[in-house]
Amino acid sequence: MVKVTVLGAAGGIGQPLSLLLRLNPHVTELALFDIVNSEGVAVDLSHIPTKQKVYGYGPKSKTDTTQLKAALKDADVVVIPAGVPRKPGMTRNDLFKINASIVKGLVHQAGLVCPNAFICIISNPVNSTVPIAVEELKKLGAYNPAKVFGITTLDNLRLEEFLSLALKRVNGASIDPADLRGDAISIGGHSGSTIVPVLNSWASSLPSSVYDTLLHRVQYGGDEVVKAKNGRGSATLSMATAGYRFVSHLVEALADDLIVDEVAFIKFDELPAKGIPNIVSSQISYFSLPFKLGRSGVKFVQFPKNLSDKETKLVGIAVKQLRGEIDTGVEFVHHSK
Ligand code: NAD
Ligand code: LMR
Repeated sequence: MVKVTVLGAAGGIGQPLSLLLRLNPHVTELALFDIVNSEGVAVDLSHIPTKQKVYGYGPKSKTDTTQLKAALKDADVVVIPAGVPRKPGMTRNDLFKINASIVKGLVHQAGLVCPNAFICIISNPVNSTVPIAVEELKKLGAYNPAKVFGITTLDNLRLEEFLSLALKRVNGASIDPADLRGDAISIGGHSGSTIVPVLNSWASSLPSSVYDTLLHRVQYGGDEVVKAKNGRGSATLSMATAGYRFVSHLVEALADDLIVDEVAFIKFDELPAKGIPNIVSSQISYFSLPFKLGRSGVKFVQFPKNLSDKETKLVGIAVKQLRGEIDTGVEFVHHSK
């Protein structure tokens, strides 16, 4: 019995993500909340024949929170893709002005209504919205470091796909991107230079110019989509796939009491962790990292071993950028009512 609540369910990410969740047999109830069209999406999905219950919730007025509260009641997992996406020329940080309040408001209600739920943040800028979620939950006394995640899985999808293409270009070898999963991973944050691909043994196959192109594509893959969509939003279908990969794993851990391997942007300093280098832990407490995930959340965080010199350098650059972005999120909550 797993109830998943999607906040922002009628959006570009919310709809395909809800569709994928609708097809997951472990999800017994799906609650779809949005400020527009959530009931339409829920009715549409309700015609797909599965055992699952699916309900749509939308506020009856600007100040109405009863529908949001109803959507969150008894939720085990809350996924938040609510907020505005980028247009060409914008950075993710340009979204902060609008999305910070949206995330804070939604997480506030989640902290009140379902304080034991897992909170999965998709809304950008993730490097700041996750600290917002954490600080808001702390204020309510509902914070559990093992259960709050920024979904950075899209950086891993991109790394798997772009690395397999790069390997093919270099030595003609056709590598299934699925074989790279978990072996080559993106750590750090979710924007530009805060994204650090860790290639393990695959690095040695790549000449430096190919590596540099790969690095740029993984770090700035989001820009490619924003540019191609030309004012009609950012990554939605690949993000729904990424969000589903993460959330379905979490649901699996909950439903079958499994321990699964995952990577997400987490506050690691209050969790059992191994190998976090001083350059990270002395300056920040958030980083996207691999961990073991079980029914009660993150069990154990492990910093990747054997980073190359180049990757270690990239971690240093990421930390510098992340510091300010994390602080912006923390201060936003401390300075608001
Ligand atoms: P979208 O505009 O298509 O959808 C957003 C939805 O949120 C809309 O349906 C809107 O009505 C809803 N919404 C707005 N305020 C709300 C509120 N207070 N409560 C509930 N719903 C609300 O945007 P999208 O393309 O789905 O992107 C959503 C967010 O996800 C953006 O911030 C985007 O930058 C981010 N994103 C993150 C990643 C990642 O890797 N983490 C990847 C892609 C996009
Ligand atoms: C992405 O990486 O595609 C998302 O964060 C959306 C964006 O704004 O680039």
